[in-house]
Amino acid sequence: MSMPSRVSRRRPLWGLVALVALIPLVLAGCKGNEQEQAPPPGSTTSEQPPPQATVYTRAEIATFTPDQIEALRKGIAVMQKRPATTPTSWIYQANIHGVPVEGDNCPASTDPMQEAWSTCQHGSFFFLAWHRMYLYYFERILRSAIQEGTGDPTYQFALPYWDYSTHQLPDPFRMPADPSNSLYVSERRPLCNNPQPGQECVSDAQGSSQQAMTLVPFCNCPDGQASCDGCTANLTPDETFGGEFTPQPEHFLNQFGELESQPHNVIHNRVGGPTGWMSDPDCAARDPIFWLHHANIDRLWQVWLNQNSGRLNPLGSTAWTTTKFTFFDEKGTKVEMTGCEILNMVTQLDYQYKDLPVQNVQLCAQAGQPKPETTPAPAEQVQELAASPSQGFTLGSKPLKVAVPVPAKARDRITSLAESAQPERLRLVIEGLSLVHHGGVYEVYLNLPQGQKPDPKGPYFVGLISLFGHLGQGQESSRSFDITDEMHNLAQRHEWNGKVELTFVLSGGEETGVVAESTPAQLVRFRRARIITRQQE
Ligand code: C2O
Repeated sequence: MSMPSRVSRRRPLWGLVALVALIPLVLAGCKGNEQEQAPPPGSTTSEQPPPQATVYTRAEIATFTPDQIEALRKGIAVMQKRPATTPTSWIYQANIHGVPVEGDNCPASTDPMQEAWSTCQHGSFFFLAWHRMYLYYFERILRSAIQEGTGDPTYQFALPYWDYSTHQLPDPFRMPADPSNSLYVSERRPLCNNPQPGQECVSDAQGSSQQAMTLVPFCNCPDGQASCDGCTANLTPDETFGGEFTPQPEHFLNQFGELESQPHNVIHNRVGGPTGWMSDPDCAARDPIFWLHHANIDRLWQVWLNQNSGRLNPLGSTAWTTTKFTFFDEKGTKVEMTGCEILNMVTQLDYQYKDLPVQNVQLCAQAGQPKPETTPAPAEQVQELAASPSQGFTLGSKPLKVAVPVPAKARDRITSLAESAQPERLRLVIEGLSLVHHGGVYEVYLNLPQGQKPDPKGPYFVGLISLFGHLGQGQESSRSFDITDEMHNLAQRHEWNGKVELTFVLSGGEETGVVAESTPAQLVRFRRARIITRQQE
């Protein structure tokens, strides 16, 4: 074995940068919330333990130097050589997310089932916390693998993130397109590995987290439940940032919070396509880009908190704060973690995102302190205004138009809502969604005129539908969109004629000849579409 050689260029002054960057964080941490408020009950912001010595800074992948990219490649290669049943191996870590079975987009696992395999949390309010823990231990394992691979035991590695709102799949993950590059996998949508002029892997609409950022509630109570442990009642999951309350961990539930739907699910499906790894939860974490995708999702969680105005983690929920999840550290030692332990990434864990202060973070109440109360949502009246037949609809590679008949009374109501600004909102709900095939991202349009080219930047675009989960397990979810502004704009343009027609278009229909031929005829089903309105009582 050769002596570890130290190449100082490989180790930029991360330590110093981190330390300097910490000073304002520590000060901000002592102040607590930015706005002048009494600290909420349960907040122990002023009693935070002192930050740990090393804080690793996660930076955008495009800022990585060639040396840093090389180190990343070496570390992944080290992990990939370890046997699947070793907790610090690439496959063991990927199988914590999901274990491939027959019919998946990657070969079925032949290894005996191991501890913590197939435990990822999707479709519930555990989504963000579980993935933060998963990334944290993965980062420690990868850092130590990089130290082994580079021969530099002091190498200061932090996971890069991929901000898809600014650029396409990063070059080092596409090139060279051969096994010498451990960041490359061929099992991706061809357009992502081989971009063509004018055809994108990820469009602006697909990479956007804008809608999720506008939402204040972290979580909702399941349908029909007037209250639950720490979440807001009378909301659909996609009116929350972080997803639906569930009393216990569930591998997959399928009621996605807004950030999980968009951009999370959308990016999985865009990168994986119908047959690639990223679109299949049992294969996704085998693709190195998975970890950069999730670092970005984890970063967006803090971006959301920093906007404050009532945005808070659901510390009122005992399930969310105390449920224990199992992982392994860089020594292969089993560890358990709870929601309470991952709230402040700097002081409780050991990382931060470049140029992103950690603000508006409450910690769990200490023994004897009262639990924070969740303000109950104002009582609301939900009224159905219109509904499509509930015969069921199938989305494939061709656009589908669905008429939603509007009864006369509802038409007047919609007209008056569309014409004058009122607090009452109109919502389009797509019910009974199920996944037939991986990889689809659908654009939804409201009253797209005949012959008009569907354009997500245009005035008829409502939003995206993108499911990420297991096939054929009978799980159904719903997706809903606020269409008040779209209706208002229709009325403004004198295009509102009392009729509603929805158009569903597979994103990437532009790929004719590249992927379209291999696109399955059916990707997603749904039962019906409804238009509802909510009025505060
Ligand atoms: Cu657990 Cu983005 O996947």
